[in-house]
Amino acid sequence: MAVNSPVGGRRGNGRRAGLGACKSVTITCVSETGWHDTGRLLDDIEAGGGPGGDQWRTEWDAGNSAGSCSLVEVVARNGRRRRFLVDCGWNAQYMAERFRASGVDRMLASGAIDFLYLSHEHFDHFWGVEAVLRLAPAIRIVAPAGFRPEALQLLGGGSFPRSGAGNAVRHQGRLDLLPAGRLHRLMAGVGSATFDLSILMGVQGEQSLFFSIEGKGVLCVTGCCHQGVLSLADYARREVASDGRLYGLYGGLHISPFGPLKAEGEATVRGIGEYGFAKIACNHCTGLPAVEMMAALGYPLVGGSGREGSKSALYLGNGDSVTFG
Ligand SMILES: [Fe+2]
Ligand SMILES: [Fe+2]
Repeated sequence: MAVNSPVGGRRGNGRRAGLGACKSVTITCVSETGWHDTGRLLDDIEAGGGPGGDQWRTEWDAGNSAGSCSLVEVVARNGRRRRFLVDCGWNAQYMAERFRASGVDRMLASGAIDFLYLSHEHFDHFWGVEAVLRLAPAIRIVAPAGFRPEALQLLGGGSFPRSGAGNAVRHQGRLDLLPAGRLHRLMAGVGSATFDLSILMGVQGEQSLFFSIEGKGVLCVTGCCHQGVLSLADYARREVASDGRLYGLYGGLHISPFGPLKAEGEATVRGIGEYGFAKIACNHCTGLPAVEMMAALGYPLVGGSGREGSKSALYLGNGDSVTFG
């Protein structure tokens, strides 16, 4: 595992950094089901010391783990197609099944997926990494700076019996840890920014993706969006969009992840309406009450099929795809 840092980074305004543009982006939700039962998850967090606890030292209910993972396919202006994964879920066995169901297993094994992009270190986005490494042990991994030593040990084949985290396949490829403070260009039209913040259960930093799509505007893609969806949209408008135009939003928006929508969440949902997104495909920790409020407000939501473990057809769920561009 070779650690590199940073890649393609340039200081300052993303517009001046010359992100370029792509033609279109198709995203398939491999799994948005982070865990099966929220009550059991909250009990585990509480027993582990609450939000200020440590995910690596918390005893998680193994039967409750699933995971978040999406497949991103970018079509370049010259028609060339490139693929990468955003996150790799929590339970490696569950993820292996999701990879089979979505065809990601064959793509990984044949080298058709360029890299694994890890939004952040949380259990439900990262601890399923063995499912990826079993099929592609030398895949390049792109993670935010701030990954803890435990996270690097997991990539190196470590196990943490108390928490249930473990990986039997050592990562043999390149690891890029992207620092905050600049927009990193991953390929033409595709950038990543690291938001340096302390997140619940001892995690530091989350990175999000920005796609400049020809003729449309900027698409923002998130894992959990712990930095807040309004901060994400502000960043995209300020640092990425050449004309301030935002076009799409995909991923977990962390508005009502564990239950009913509170006043702050309602304000966030209303705030999203100010940015003029033309297409919103949210799932995972967005929370169904937040999605229902967006639907009631007439936001341009992309629905799904509500199957394979996803709870509602109001949002883009497991096995569903959306194209931006
Ligand atoms: Fe999550
Ligand atoms: Fe998270």
